[in-house]
Amino acid sequence: MYATRALSPSFGAEVLDFNPSALQSKEAIDAIRALWAEHKLLLFRNQDFDEATLVQLSKEFGALEIHVREEYLSREHPEILYVSNIEREGRRIGILADTEVGWHYDQIYLPKPAVGSLLMADILPPEGGNTEFADMCAAFDALPEATRVQLEGCLANQSYEAFNQAYSVPTNTKQKARSPDIQQPLVRTHPVTGKKALYLCPGMTTEIVGWDAGESAEMLAFLFDWTTQPEFVYSHEWQPGDALLWDNACTMHRRDPFDPQHDRLMKRTTILPPEALAVPF
Ligand code: SIN
Repeated sequence: MYATRALSPSFGAEVLDFNPSALQSKEAIDAIRALWAEHKLLLFRNQDFDEATLVQLSKEFGALEIHVREEYLSREHPEILYVSNIEREGRRIGILADTEVGWHYDQIYLPKPAVGSLLMADILPPEGGNTEFADMCAAFDALPEATRVQLEGCLANQSYEAFNQAYSVPTNTKQKARSPDIQQPLVRTHPVTGKKALYLCPGMTTEIVGWDAGESAEMLAFLFDWTTQPEFVYSHEWQPGDALLWDNACTMHRRDPFDPQHDRLMKRTTILPPEALAVPF
């Protein structure tokens, strides 16, 4: 139904001639869902969604998570998280400012973690701020078999706190209570495709549970290097009107820094899995 153009040799596709009003048809929604599962990352170019449309469109793919950082939510549409360095009325309106943001899976720290995100460019700096994605199914498949076997069944500790210390600002007490460290499988099964993916990220994964500390650190260091090799990574250079829908069950992402003298505002929704497929994974 939709023609696509590959974004990289291994994953990601631009959906050509996309018009969100077409999503009123079940056929169109099913087509986009299928492309999302197949390509892991979808780019829609030349879009101009208002916030209501962004929310409505996102809801076609699942229930939406209200992010724990309520200070960065849209006032009219709390399903939308602002990612921005802009200050208005003496406060920063968005999360993650202008510095580098390390590799992470969105909301990996939830008991039923998010499976998708839709990020729309609203204001872009003239350069910098590329967002990179890593294909964690391809990274898992390419591992030596002995390593795959060793990792299956392991749990890893995921820490939003560790991410905030490295790349963001601390949460308040209430937010901390809503986002404690959590143990998740190190290898997860995709709820739709059934494919296996490495479920870890340098920004939030602190240890493999039950392993000797040195061995855990050594394995994680190996896996962080492994998953971020160029063959598994696509770097997106944003253009005005771009929106990216990514599969947050099998890709992790990071962001390049950009010149703080320029404004950048991105608007993001976060998509939860259907209840029946949420856990176990
Ligand atoms: C994010 O990590 O969700 C934001 C990425 C970006 O700012 O491009």
